[in-house]
Amino acid sequence: MVEQSQWYKCLEQIVASPVLHHRWLSTLGQLEYVGAAKIAAFLPQWSPEVEHLQHAAEEFRHAFFFMSRARELGVSQSLPQRRYHYLRRYLHLLDAGVTRAVKAAWMRGEVHESVWKSQCYLWVTKLVEVRAVQLYQIYHQVLKARGLFSLQWLIREEASHLREIDRELERLGGGAEFYRYLQDMEGSLFLSFEKDVFSWVQAA
Ligand SMILES: [Fe+2]
Ligand SMILES: [Fe+2]
Repeated sequence: MVEQSQWYKCLEQIVASPVLHHRWLSTLGQLEYVGAAKIAAFLPQWSPEVEHLQHAAEEFRHAFFFMSRARELGVSQSLPQRRYHYLRRYLHLLDAGVTRAVKAAWMRGEVHESVWKSQCYLWVTKLVEVRAVQLYQIYHQVLKARGLFSLQWLIREEASHLREIDRELERLGGGAEFYRYLQDMEGSLFLSFEKDVFSWVQAA
């Protein structure tokens, strides 16, 4: 669970500094881009489900939105490329961890072979969407207080992805206990992302 007041304070400081805000927007853009590319890689070569195609298209648009906003700030690259690679680890490690857990469930006979790939996609997406909705809501409040741009449309899209994922998980029979296990894993990965972002403000 995102520590709301701590994030609010941190994001207030980030938004107040063009250099830090550029870094934050670039980070979100990179994460959205990695997410979109992962969804695109999951799509079949022919006739994808319309919902999956819509999801990939919207995530690419989120990446485009954040990266364009970063560019508008007119700040030159505020973080070396390798640092963005470091921040993107959150998604890569989450993807790897969920894949490992779903494969283990498949080996135990708890997941059918025909759906294990879909299960990986659904669980990673669910964890990321839950986190994104929490974090974007706080960021939206900070932006609103400063009279900057709105994230409402983007939050609405993330929330609708979440509803779609929940519907699909229900169909495939995703277990509550398995979800709690995955949530713990996501929680510890997010902690290191959080620590890194909080350290920007402390160092400023
Ligand atoms: Fe997104
Ligand atoms: Fe999403």
